[in-house]
Amino acid sequence: MMVFKTHKTLTSKVKEFKTKGLSTGFVPTMGALHKGHLSLMEQALESNDILAVSIFVNPTQFDNTGDLEKYPRTVEQDVSLIYEAFGKEKVIIYTPTVKDIYGHSPVSKKYNYDGLEHVMEGANRPGHFDGVGTILEFLFHKVQPDAAYFGEKDFQQLQIVKKLVEKLELPIAIIGCAIKREPHGLAMSSRNERLSSDSREYAAFIHKSLVKARAHFKNHSIPDTIAMVESLYHNQSRLKLEYFTITSEETLVPVKRKYHKHTYRAFIVAHIEDVRLIDNLRLS
Ligand code: PAJ
Repeated sequence: MMVFKTHKTLTSKVKEFKTKGLSTGFVPTMGALHKGHLSLMEQALESNDILAVSIFVNPTQFDNTGDLEKYPRTVEQDVSLIYEAFGKEKVIIYTPTVKDIYGHSPVSKKYNYDGLEHVMEGANRPGHFDGVGTILEFLFHKVQPDAAYFGEKDFQQLQIVKKLVEKLELPIAIIGCAIKREPHGLAMSSRNERLSSDSREYAAFIHKSLVKARAHFKNHSIPDTIAMVESLYHNQSRLKLEYFTITSEETLVPVKRKYHKHTYRAFIVAHIEDVRLIDNLRLS
């Protein structure tokens, strides 16, 4: 069985792969796997000899202890899902304990991502991206992948990971992967499991509002597009809008004016039944 519970055993396997000249594609996750995660793994295996997956609910990236406690933990089911999809031969899985990663004190290091951390999720979830940086720096050093795969679902995280790797000068290609959605448009997420089937259906409103924003954006200003989306949420009561913002895709800085040849992306967070849902869409 290629499931490793400690970084020591993992590292010796990684060394073996390196001596054989095998390339590794890495997909870090917090488990409760769904088709979104599997799509990243599929891409990793397409371009590499070995697929490495980590399953670890990282305490230091949660700014809310309730959210950390409620996070679904289904490791055994996750491992079976990976094996069913990809077999055992080319797959290694790392399922550490908090102690294996952090010893007795799960605390974050501090990171400077050149401002990418001050907006959106960084502004709304203090310390979140320090926690993400801490766990990924650890995992990148232990797994030593050639490439690591991240979903555009967490677009800000993807940009931050690219910055992390650049600043730490790690020889790892960071690959962004498209968002996997439910048939009605809701972005797949481990958090969707916490919704009643009725709310899960209703939450498709979030993606629909992004699609409307993209259409509106073509012929209207940015403030006008933001006002239109906010009014969509005012006119219903089940989803509570936390933020909707339009930024330059590269800098993630919220913008008020459109400039020629720039790429813009809309970002949204909304709550339903106490579940925080996140999504985004490229506008141009
Ligand atoms: P987690 O939320 O488990 O997500 C793991 C990876 O799956 C992330 O790169 C995320 O963007 C991607 N993902 C989630 N839903 C997706 C979807 N519907 N379509 C495509 N990709 C999707 O993100 C984390 O874990 C953690 O922050 C982590 C990077 C593991 C660090 O702890």
